[in-house]
Amino acid sequence: MLLSRKSHNKLVAPAPIDEQLEVMFRAALRAPDHALLKPWRYRVFEGEALHELATHMVTAAAHDDPEISEDKLAKLKTKPFRAPMVIVASVVIQEHPKVPEIEQILSGGASVQNLLMAAHFQGVGAMWRTGSLAFSQKMMDLLGFEDKETLIGFVYLGTEEGDKRQARISEIEEHVTRI
Ligand SMILES: Cc1cc2nc3c(=O)[nH]c(=O)nc-3n(C[C@H](O)[C@H](O)[C@H](O)COP(=O)(O)O)c2cc1C
Repeated sequence: MLLSRKSHNKLVAPAPIDEQLEVMFRAALRAPDHALLKPWRYRVFEGEALHELATHMVTAAAHDDPEISEDKLAKLKTKPFRAPMVIVASVVIQEHPKVPEIEQILSGGASVQNLLMAAHFQGVGAMWRTGSLAFSQKMMDLLGFEDKETLIGFVYLGTEEGDKRQARISEIEEHVTRI
């Protein structure tokens, strides 16, 4: 199962059901976590709530670039609807003498990966996306983020439509050196 995971960019209904989501979040909360800071946060947007996410995206984009074209805004408005569910993943960074920010963000990445794997194991299609709005303070404010909270991804979830996308496969030798 680990070797066959891949991203799906064409996702349709149904969204994961509650039982599947519970497994995904339980897996996400099993990420390695130095000093047990539990930095992970997830906000789930599904159905009508996707309109709210789309509105936030448009508002943040227009705020960050007042010159942005109507075309781009209209396109942005459709983005959350590329899947029946979008989960905004974030980490709340805490001051800690032994755990620098990067370790807390790495833990967030591990948590999202666990979530993606738990999705895959249950036949749920997923894709981790960011884009410029992932780094927009306005977007984070609109989402109600805490002061030290930072966005690490929009996880698109649903049922894969067909199986067209090729998995990325590298050769081990390109990445691994045995000393
Ligand atoms: C932090 C992060 C952000 C990403 N953001 C995007 C994105 O905005 N758009 C995109 O097409 N792929 C994005 N990707 C890559 C895809 O999720 C995916 O991993 C990639 O297309 C390779 O496909 P695979 O997962 O099937 O190997 C991101 C990956 C990571 C780890």
